[in-house]
Amino acid sequence: MPTSLVTGGAGFIGSHLVERLLQRGDHVRVLDNFSTGHAANLAPWRANIEVIEGDLRDAAALARATAGVDLVFHQAALPLVQQSVDDPATTNAVNVDGTLQLLLAARDAGVRRVVVASSAAVYGDDPQLPKHERMPIQPLSPYAVSKLATEQYALVFAQLYALEAVALRYFNVFGPRQDPRSPYSGVIARFCAAARAGAEVTIFGDGSQSRDFVAVADVVSANLLAALAPAANGQVINIARGEQTSLLELIRLLEELTGRSLPVRFAPARSGDILHSLAAIDRAQALLGFRPQVSLREGLHLTL
Ligand SMILES: NC(=O)c1ccc[n+]([C@@H]2O[C@H](COP(=O)([O-])OP(=O)(O)OC[C@H]3O[C@@H](n4cnc5c(N)ncnc54)[C@H](O)[C@@H]3O)[C@@H](O)[C@H]2O)c1
Repeated sequence: MPTSLVTGGAGFIGSHLVERLLQRGDHVRVLDNFSTGHAANLAPWRANIEVIEGDLRDAAALARATAGVDLVFHQAALPLVQQSVDDPATTNAVNVDGTLQLLLAARDAGVRRVVVASSAAVYGDDPQLPKHERMPIQPLSPYAVSKLATEQYALVFAQLYALEAVALRYFNVFGPRQDPRSPYSGVIARFCAAARAGAEVTIFGDGSQSRDFVAVADVVSANLLAALAPAANGQVINIARGEQTSLLELIRLLEELTGRSLPVRFAPARSGDILHSLAAIDRAQALLGFRPQVSLREGLHLTL
């Protein structure tokens, strides 16, 4: 079985990837600087994986991390939109320069394929739905610019060098181990934590805003398919469930699952928040054979 490197393996999505790669028998290595990730996310498998505590911006750590590796799943990034607005230079250093350094190290180490995590943030708030990969992109934050650069660097490497690459544009990923304490973490993590504690949730706006929520297990499946599918090389691919759910629908579903009502406080809409989001996932279906398996209800149940 292949040797796989997961950058950002101590984070939310990365730790789920680690778990599944081990299950299928890969030799798994993690590179993480534990800035937003947690050692506890890796604790159950710590004895069966190699962990390199290091930074994407450190060429020596990258050379060690990529040596002998077949596949790279690049999740490490500063994923915080507001932080990127406050400090664009650091987001650029980690997400753009760090990705470039990783791609160089992967190329030089003879890695077969890199799958990089991009984001629906690259689409901005163009009201046209669903978002499909041929639409004009419109990044609205330094974070979105950094994700666009991440995917474009990966694809340029696929054209120029013997390093295959696939970029996955994740929509709103949710599931166990997503940190609800982060003010920027997904709305589902925060709503589930509140539902468990019987606490109030805050909705900015009237709750009609919608998102395309995709369970982390499906995002992991998409990564595994993207690492192998021949037609995926050099492509940008949306990863979502292809369904739109409003925040009010989400609240109703949580109330149903927990059997108690969830107090909601409505606050003024935040400027910069996009109103609606929905992905076209026909490319993921055609190129990867991707079919989301986890319904929102089932995913919420697991998260709760
Ligand atoms: N969660 C979502 O809904 C979502 C949506 C779109 C895209 N993404 C992308 O998916 C990826 C994973 O996101 P996540 O939600 O798991 O976030 P996360 O914060 O849980 O994971 C990111 C990991 O990267 C590590 N990291 C950060 N900077 C690093 C550096 N300089 N060197 C080494 N490691 C570093 C962190 O410690 C953390 O473990 C990110 O690239 C993010 O941009 C996530």
